[in-house]
Parts: sequence; structure tokens; C-alpha cells
Amino acid sequence: MAQIEIIKIDENNLENPCELKKLERAGKIIRNGGLVVFPTETVYGLGANAFDESAVKKIYEIKGRPSDNPLIVHFADPEDIYKYAEVPDIAEKIIKKFMPAPLTLVLKKKGNEFDSSCKLDTVAVRVPKNNTARKLIELAGVPITAPSANLSGKPSPTNAAHIMSDLDGKVDMIICGENCEIGLESTVISFNGDGIINILRSGYITRDDLISVGARIARPGTELIEQPRAPGMKYKHYSPDAPLYILSGENDRIIDFMSKELCRKTKKVGFLCFAEMLSFFADNKNIISISLGLKNDLKEQAKNLFSALNKFNELGVDIIYSVEPEKTGVGEAIYNRLIKAAGGKTIIL
Ligand code: TXA
Ligand code: MG
Repeated sequence: MAQIEIIKIDENNLENPCELKKLERAGKIIRNGGLVVFPTETVYGLGANAFDESAVKKIYEIKGRPSDNPLIVHFADPEDIYKYAEVPDIAEKIIKKFMPAPLTLVLKKKGNEFDSSCKLDTVAVRVPKNNTARKLIELAGVPITAPSANLSGKPSPTNAAHIMSDLDGKVDMIICGENCEIGLESTVISFNGDGIINILRSGYITRDDLISVGARIARPGTELIEQPRAPGMKYKHYSPDAPLYILSGENDRIIDFMSKELCRKTKKVGFLCFAEMLSFFADNKNIISISLGLKNDLKEQAKNLFSALNKFNELGVDIIYSVEPEKTGVGEAIYNRLIKAAGGKTIIL
């Protein structure tokens, strides 16, 4: 790709004519078949015109994404969902209560649009909460198909700097906005005929949030699930360059384990720790500590996880040890990403 435009957007000042002009230009690129990286509240997305088959194909090529892994279609307005998908009653309640939100609904397609859904009879739809993302879709005048803007298998990008090394030169434009407010990809849910919901990918909108609007949720493993689970979840995911191990145990045992790790001078060790542990190895060059957040602050941990994994890649550590987050509420999603990043490797202390 010949030239790439990198633009900085003031996300708090979108109605300013100067910012609008930049987004109009981005919208035009999308409309005409180009690729634009843009911020959302979850992670940065790699966007293309959802109606343009060859533009969508480019996304698969650039990411190295398996061709059976469908993409999410993003709309500016929840009302647009009804044009393209059948919306069961419980989905309607969820749309009314939450959207725009970090939430994706897998729904039956009405027509034959959206090749990005890989010949499934369903389409995954999302209305981002981030104002820049919604404005971009509105100005593009077409729905935007977008996966996370990482190469397949790598941690998702939560700030514009993460994207440069992987996608520079391969897309038409990168919109640099704020760091992503939430930091984990959207919750993905699908609907059984009998009104039961499957959580295909956990996220910031939790099981309890969905139950609060009267949803009944299939328990994982109770194969009430008729539809395929999100195909993306079966692939290797979120892996940092260095091997990652989760340390499961009390804080003092973790500190003890890491202190012993200090003796092995040959390695540059990454330590993804709770904020409370940050000072323990501050004086030691062998261990690079990055805070996931305070132990009881799951929202902060969600926001920091991918950013920390990307930072360890940048620093070129040889091995990473991570604390284990709580698994309730948003913690379910944090743990889901972390255990995949670790390829299931946990050390019980
Ligand atoms: O927060 C997000 O969802 C971000 C931002 C950019 O919007 N996007 C994102 O897209 O995470 P991606 O492609 O990285 O993940 C989409 C997930 C995959 O696991 C995919 O298999 C699943 O959604 N998916 C998409 N369409 C589906 C469908 N029709 N049926 C089941 N799963 C689907
Ligand atoms: Mg992804």
C-alpha cells in the first residue's frame, strides 16, 4: 500500500469542524473500499465497508485471519440492526437497555448481505459506545466490518502506538484517539430459539448485567447451544511474544516465587503484578514489573491487561509471570483473555 495517513483525533471535541473534516475523510476512505484503523471503547478496530467484499477480504489477508472466523459488523445507530437482522424479544430488551455498548449480538440475518459472516445464516452486530467510532460509521454512510486491529493470535491493541509496528504500511489510515476506556473486546452473545442466551465471549457487559434484564443464560458446558460458538474462540489468542505463566496463590507466595526467579540472572523477566506489589522489585534490573491494577479493581485490570502484554512485547522480555485476577464479574473476561494468552499454563503456589 503506497501511502498511509496517520491522523490524531481529539475525541472530546468531535463537533469541531477540523476534527469532523478528518473523520469525513476517513469515512470516504472506508466507503471507497479502503481500510481504516479506528478507536472504540473496547480495543482499536481494523475497519472496512461491510458491503464491499474485496475490502473485507483484505482484512483477512492483513491479519492472517483464518477464513472461517467471521467478523463483527458495526452500526452507528441501534435502529439499523433491525434492517439486517431478526431481533428476538430478549435481544430487543438488551438493545434498549445497553446499546450503544461493548456488546455484540449474533442474530439471524434477514438477507444475504455481509460476506464477513462466512456463509453463516447469522451476523454479529455491534453499536460501539465510543463517539469517534459511531461518528466514523455515520460519516462513512455504510456499516463497518471490523475485527480487533492486531495480527491474528496477538494481544489486541488498546492504544494507537500498539498498531504501528504490525499494520503500518498495510492500511490506508490510522486514527489515533485516546487509550481505549475498557480495554477488552466486546461481550459476544447468541440466542437460542427458546429465549436462552449463550455467552460466546465474555466481556465488560457481564452475565449479571444480562440477567438484570430478564435474560436466561446457558451455563458453559451445558450443551444447550445449537449455534456454533464464536469460531474465533477456538484459535490461539492474545499471545505475547514471550511465554506467559499465571501464578495462582496468595500475594506473599507470589512475591516469594518471584524473589527466587531473581537468582536466574540470564533472563529478563516480566512481572504482571497487582498495583500493591509494584514496589517489590523496583530496584532490580532483571524483573520488569507492570501493574495490572489494584487487586480489587477489576475495571482497571481490564483496561490494563492488553496494554501490559503489548508493553512486554516492546521491552523484549524472555518470560512473563502474571498474577491471577478474580474470576467474577468483569474478572471472568480478564481471566478468559489471560489464560488464553498463557496457553493454559498456570503455576499453583
Ligand atoms: O470489541 C470488539 O468486539 C472489537 C471491536 C473492534 O469492535 N472487535 C473484535 O472483533 O473483537 P474480532 O474479530 O477480534 O472478534 C469477533 C468475535 C470472534 O470470536 C468471532 O468468531 C465472533 O466474534 N463472531 C463474529 N461473527 C460471528 C457469528 N456470526 N457467529 C458466532 N460468532 C461470531
Ligand atoms: Mg480479535
